Amino acid sequence: MYAEFYGLKELPFALTPDPRFIYFTPSHTEVMANLHYGIESGKGLVVVTGEVGTGKTTILRWMMQRLDRTVLVAYIFNPRLSVPEFYQHVATLLDVQKWETKSELLMELGRALESRHSRGLRTVLIIDEAQGLSPHVLEEIRLLSNFESDTAKQLQIVLTGQPELREVINNPDLRQLKQRVALRCIIKPLPNIEETDRYITSRLLVAGAERTDIFSASAVDFIFRCSEGIPRNINNLCDNALLAGYAAGELSIDRAVIEEVAETFDMLPSGSRGIQPGAERESPASVFSTAGRAELWAAGTGKSEAETETVAPVPVEQG
Ligand SMILES: Nc1ncnc2c1ncn2[C@@H]1O[C@H](COP(=O)(O)OP(=O)(O)O)[C@@H](O)[C@H]1O
Ligand SMILES: [Mg+2]
Repeated sequence: MYAEFYGLKELPFALTPDPRFIYFTPSHTEVMANLHYGIESGKGLVVVTGEVGTGKTTILRWMMQRLDRTVLVAYIFNPRLSVPEFYQHVATLLDVQKWETKSELLMELGRALESRHSRGLRTVLIIDEAQGLSPHVLEEIRLLSNFESDTAKQLQIVLTGQPELREVINNPDLRQLKQRVALRCIIKPLPNIEETDRYITSRLLVAGAERTDIFSASAVDFIFRCSEGIPRNINNLCDNALLAGYAAGELSIDRAVIEEVAETFDMLPSGSRGIQPGAERESPASVFSTAGRAELWAAGTGKSEAETETVAPVPVEQG
């Protein structure tokens, strides 16, 4: 596809949360520092929220790949679990065997955590898309946060999710859980054109670009405005712009191409969109289905994107 035309070794703007492409904005850096601090100092419960497409899953994957071997991680990204399913997952991922009832599991888990803790080993439970967890499962998570020694929590729990997660946790029925939250942080969209420019350049370089001026300054300016600084939207615009540019035989992408793509995908900034005032735009990032993206990707590189970084033996979430 267009990769070769622009001198790229791979597609720079895929929608998968591939941590190889991570670019640390001040907000991503701060969130990463919070996660690191929370886990290292045994804080217990850490909550990270951010709009769809701001990079929550990417950050988690980046972190999981870099955690020391002594850290055991259970990563759950399917929040629509019943309580028994949730415990099944936790037990499997944390390798707790020989249990039949919940109380047996909790006892075994407690023993395992205690033993790991006494050997200086950390155990982390990460739940992505946690805004979808049922109150019952959240209550169980509160129970799990009870495992502690005199000095630290024995199980570190990280919940990430869309902004609704904050409201979920603020539910008066869950106030006990809320009280356990030791750290809270928010992943913000890219704040300005400069960061958007750096983000785009960084992804181009990871994809093997020899020239980083593929997008003109006015194109980047307009990408920022249409994307509202949300990385997934930026990727969508850039990917489609490169495709359009390639089709038109243009080595540089100017603002006009972005305008065209944004128009096609209904991503024009509020002021310039031809929609009725007040009409809500759903997440503009979902213009392509996951299957469609995978197809495009395969067409571009002749292979599907290998996902080797998952720590837990669970299927990999796409995008
Ligand atoms: N800091 C970042 N650096 C590089 N790419 C990012 C960053 N944040 C998000 N992305 C990209 O944006 C897209 C959406 O990220 P994702 O982690 O799936 O967001 P979320 O989980 O918050 O919905 C992915 O393609 C991802 O690679
Ligand atoms: Mg995600």
